[in-house]
Amino acid sequence: MKKESREHDEFSVTPWEVRGNIDYEKLIKKFGVEKLNDKILARIKKHAGELHPMLRRGVFFAHRDMNWLLDEYEKGNRFFLYTGRSPSGPIHIGHLMPWIFTKWLQDKFNVELWFQFPDEEKFLFKKNLGFDEVQKWTHENMLDVAALGFNPKKTHFLVNTKNANLLYPEAVKIAKKISFSTVKAAFGFTNDLNIGAIFYTSMQAAPVILPSVLKKKKIPCLIPLAIDQDPHFRVARDVYPKLGFPKPAIIHSIFLPPLQGTQGKMSSSEKSSAIFTTDSPKEVETKIKKYAFSGGKDTLEEHRKHGGNPDKDVSYQYLKFFFEPDDKKLQKIHDDYKSGRLLTSELKQILIEKINKFLKEHQKKRKLAEKSVGKFLVKLNGFKK
Ligand code: TRP
Repeated sequence: MKKESREHDEFSVTPWEVRGNIDYEKLIKKFGVEKLNDKILARIKKHAGELHPMLRRGVFFAHRDMNWLLDEYEKGNRFFLYTGRSPSGPIHIGHLMPWIFTKWLQDKFNVELWFQFPDEEKFLFKKNLGFDEVQKWTHENMLDVAALGFNPKKTHFLVNTKNANLLYPEAVKIAKKISFSTVKAAFGFTNDLNIGAIFYTSMQAAPVILPSVLKKKKIPCLIPLAIDQDPHFRVARDVYPKLGFPKPAIIHSIFLPPLQGTQGKMSSSEKSSAIFTTDSPKEVETKIKKYAFSGGKDTLEEHRKHGGNPDKDVSYQYLKFFFEPDDKKLQKIHDDYKSGRLLTSELKQILIEKINKFLKEHQKKRKLAEKSVGKFLVKLNGFKK
């Protein structure tokens, strides 16, 4: 009994807090999701023509109802994609991971994407965050999402307080079927929580059915997300069939680790844990050199003799999860580091160059997005843009 409770305390994953040493196998059981197996990967590959590195390398590792979604697709019933971002601060590279994968899905399956910016969520859940500040971050965060190159003709940005006319009618239908005790149990809410926060799940759940409502036909939905967001949909899933809609399929990613190592996730509120999309090349270099946890040995002599541990090395993890899509190149870095041929300083240099190359492009597109972001917004009084 004691051992079990200690195990429970090892890590925590909720939509508002991720901490500790996350055991993803345990999380799969705890959340009741399924592991992405080779059969499903083969089905995705059949349609996409290839597998994204994030699928090959287990960044996306779990799912709900993917077989159903692919069955529907094969019957000619196209799905749409849905994901989102609650603005509260700057975007870091960890945020980008699921969105880059979402863009790949959009391109490969040629489908619509609904992207939600709940500009009330963090306002309701964070004590010292004002409404106006969230509005500023909403704009800033939209630039980062637009910069990733989603197809403007097939991508719709929903801002909760601006598109409330579309979202609220669906949210109330969902909210009516979720009791306070259900969200209390799912999220550990207590009675002193404000009533806006209690209602929030229904706003995040609404876009799953919105396109079906607007087009007056049942359209399957696939939600790529980092696994901390799963509980909202776990609560809402039971409601959709009661309203006459199918449950959404979900594909879950792990978190990009913070610079300091394997505990928790990269976080905007821990400035030294994260590489932000607006960081300068110098800032990136300093952060990687100063903070990126090393799997190398303490002395040069020992490292050359015994080699480093790529599985513990944050720079290697970032290359694997994000910045080195070429399997052969990655394998060589892995082997060289493990054998001691490659030093930590050299590994860090590879990563610094990769990140800075990526950010240079991203920052250019982010600037251009200032002009083009309007194309993504859903019109205030209706769906037609
Ligand atoms: N709650 C998410 C966040 O904190 C934002 C979000 C809204 C979202 N809708 C979503 C995330 C759907 C994944 C899928 O950033």
